[in-house]
Amino acid sequence: MTAHQPTSELSGCPDVRSQTDRQRAQQRLIKNDANDWVLLHHADVLAAAKDDKRFSSQVSRFLQVPNGLDGAEHTQFRTLIERYLTAEAITPFVADFERIAQELMVSLPMDTPIEAVSEIGAVFAVRAQSAWLGWPASLEPALLQWVKNNNNAAQQQDPILLRQVADDFDDIIRSIVRPRREAAPGSPLYNADDITSRLCRERIDGRLLSEEELVSILRNWTGGDLGSIALCVGVIMAFLAQHPEHAQRLAHADNQDVEQTLDEIIRLDNPFVSNRRITTCPVTVGEHTIAPHSRVYLNWTSANRDESVFGVDQFKPSAHAPHNLVYGAGKHVCPGRLLATWQLRITTQALLKACKDIRLAPNSPLVRERPPLGGYSHVWVLLS
Ligand code: HEM
Repeated sequence: MTAHQPTSELSGCPDVRSQTDRQRAQQRLIKNDANDWVLLHHADVLAAAKDDKRFSSQVSRFLQVPNGLDGAEHTQFRTLIERYLTAEAITPFVADFERIAQELMVSLPMDTPIEAVSEIGAVFAVRAQSAWLGWPASLEPALLQWVKNNNNAAQQQDPILLRQVADDFDDIIRSIVRPRREAAPGSPLYNADDITSRLCRERIDGRLLSEEELVSILRNWTGGDLGSIALCVGVIMAFLAQHPEHAQRLAHADNQDVEQTLDEIIRLDNPFVSNRRITTCPVTVGEHTIAPHSRVYLNWTSANRDESVFGVDQFKPSAHAPHNLVYGAGKHVCPGRLLATWQLRITTQALLKACKDIRLAPNSPLVRERPPLGGYSHVWVLLS
């Protein structure tokens, strides 16, 4: 399980977004099929995200660094991780991301239906993350297959399948981490300067990170993120194909404007639906008292569409930016926000440069993901 792994929250409904729009109009919080609480309103989700004392992140029996940690332990690992995700740390990789995006866009066929989530989003995400982490390009087929398997397992919410895909991913990460940890002094890998090698040399309390900790950190940086980026690309493509006026404007907009616009597109249709917490004491929300040790979902998709904050389907990038919860809030707020934002901007800009027109392909162009996933499973477009 990663910070971005979809977890079961709602089931038996066609589409998380419209389902929670209906529920939010009637209730502040609901119980899902598993009898867990789901917070739907912006104010409640934000308050829970900021209240890490009463809403613990220790939700799993598996090690999750840093998303499953609380208090000082979380801060210690979080500080280590943040060093890799600052603007200064990511800037040297921007040229790689731009080259990857341009090469991908140039390779896409024109006037032929293309499925944007898998053929653009997932491919770009795997290549960009591999370039950032120093992973070999030969891993691409295995990573793309894994993104598909992970998606299927998340759809089915089958614990055995979920465990299997988690184990498969850990095996991929171990195949990269082990040779670096075991490299003999003087060998090329021993002194390698890629991000994964540098992470393998990191210390906490004077000791090297354990293999388990390294695998967990890298799982968080890749496993869930690949799917999140791919789903966000799908939402962005669906929006641009339906709003050519925005596509035209963005083709000539500056970076900040593009980033803010993309944040607003994703806010309206947030494919990264929710994260879990466990209450440490009784917590009152409205007329309900949530008992200690209850599972509570912070539903970002619903909070991001709360009419009392954002109006009904209103598109206002700069006015809504301060309230946007796509990347969470509080101590666990996404440390990869800048990396994700830059990657989404770069891939969108490359697309708008490579083609004049993006249209939805005829016949079922948009297929919604089924809960617990948000966004679209398929976005068929025609580029010209
Ligand atoms: C569009 C892409 C992304 C979205 C929508 C997203 C969203 C989020 C959200 C909402 C959280 C808060 C989780 C919580 O409160 O429990 C989070 C946490 C996290 N994200 Fe992201 N994220 C994205 C990309 C990335 C990337 C690229 C990385 C790193 C390479 C990353 C690393 C993490 C980590 C490590 C956490 C856990 C932080 C902690 O517990 O302190 N994310 N993300």
